Amino acid sequence: MRTQVAIIGAGPAGLLLSHLLALGGVDSVVVETRSEDYVAARIRAGILEHSSVELLEAAGLGARLRAEGDHHRGIYLQWPGERHHLDFVDLVGRGVWVYGQTEVQKDLIAARAADGQEIHYEVSDVELHDVDGDRPSVTFVDRAGRRMRIEADAIAGCDGSFGPSRAAVPAAETFERVYPYSWFGILADVAPSTDELIYAWHPDGFALHSMRSATVSRLYLQVPNGTDPQSWSDDRIWTELATRLGHGENGWKLTPGPITDRSVLPMRSHVRTPMRHGSLYLAGDAAHIVPPTGAKGLNLAIADVALLSKALIAQLKEGNPVLADRYSDDAQRRVWRCTHFSWWMTTMLHTSGEAFDAQLQLSQLRWVAKSQAGATGLAENYAGLPIGY
Ligand code: FAD
Ligand code: PHB
Repeated sequence: MRTQVAIIGAGPAGLLLSHLLALGGVDSVVVETRSEDYVAARIRAGILEHSSVELLEAAGLGARLRAEGDHHRGIYLQWPGERHHLDFVDLVGRGVWVYGQTEVQKDLIAARAADGQEIHYEVSDVELHDVDGDRPSVTFVDRAGRRMRIEADAIAGCDGSFGPSRAAVPAAETFERVYPYSWFGILADVAPSTDELIYAWHPDGFALHSMRSATVSRLYLQVPNGTDPQSWSDDRIWTELATRLGHGENGWKLTPGPITDRSVLPMRSHVRTPMRHGSLYLAGDAAHIVPPTGAKGLNLAIADVALLSKALIAQLKEGNPVLADRYSDDAQRRVWRCTHFSWWMTTMLHTSGEAFDAQLQLSQLRWVAKSQAGATGLAENYAGLPIGY
């Protein structure tokens, strides 16, 4: 097969890249190890930044998001005895949208199908070749067991943190922080007990009340690394959430409901640089991982491919390599901003067991919640900086 861009991975980064390239008149072929149903059902992120929504809308992907997504003006930040609303719209003129990654993925799959995009699902043995030169290729075994080769002008590695692309870029540097706790996440068939997300500091550990719709809640608890999600009874989960989220304080109540999904997510920050080697470009989780506390993972993947699509269109349609040459540096400015913000939110909200840390966290939380300057900094980062920042 011959195409302009071979895209490895049909997650949000890979499919959005193929969509934006097609809008710019550049062809691509996508390969993905999982099935279409699997990638459409994976439960992951839930929050879209203002500029992610603008980009999806500009790309013709905003109809269902506008109809079914939920615009939030801000978040609640709380610690025992106090809950504060931070109104991002008042603070920085931008809010966020609650719209699950599963929905973004379904919209992308539908849009690519309508466009006749070639996507090979359930492939194996994906290998990258000749990325040093300008005639790279990707080989794989398709679902029917046939050996295939895609010859391309460029390869986009959008295959997440476990795919083969990141290893094909000789890393000049890798930066990593592994956190000594994980998130226990549940999905529950119950109306959210809050209108906007609650981020709660508690001596027993962090808790987050998020949501997916008017009838589906998404909640998280800080737990020790290695926690087996099956070892907790439903009752224990709801009791722990009620304690940490402040059930009974100032008349607020957490309503429990049937748990439909549970998982434990380890937390780390990871950045590899550069994000380009020869004709191979990395985007999304293939190049960087953030802990979920700042809700940045999906948004960073979207911001990367916004830059990468422009760079590849300029290079492949107009022969102009300037944006492609700058891609890694341009993308990394935002990557490091979000890496810092996610680390900061994580370390401010998760208990470490040290009394000194707890006092610093509470002092920081009070300052963020009560000072206009503190609140504005959080709001600007959470609602998201403009693409190209
Ligand atoms: P991915 O979505 O990982 O897509 C990569 C794709 O590449 C996958 O479909 C994978 O199957 C495919 N692939 C892998 N190997 C190969 C191969 N050899 N060949 C071809 N294809 C391959 N972020 C948040 O902001 N909030 C959250 O609550 C949150 N929860 C998360 C929970 C989990 C369990 C995980 C893993 C991530 C979570 N994230 C969250 C992060 C967010 O989901 C990611 O940042 C986002 O999915 C990045 O998109 P991506 O397209 O770069 O990578
Ligand atoms: C989610 O809804 O899954 C979610 C929301 C906010 C976060 C992380 C995850 O910071």
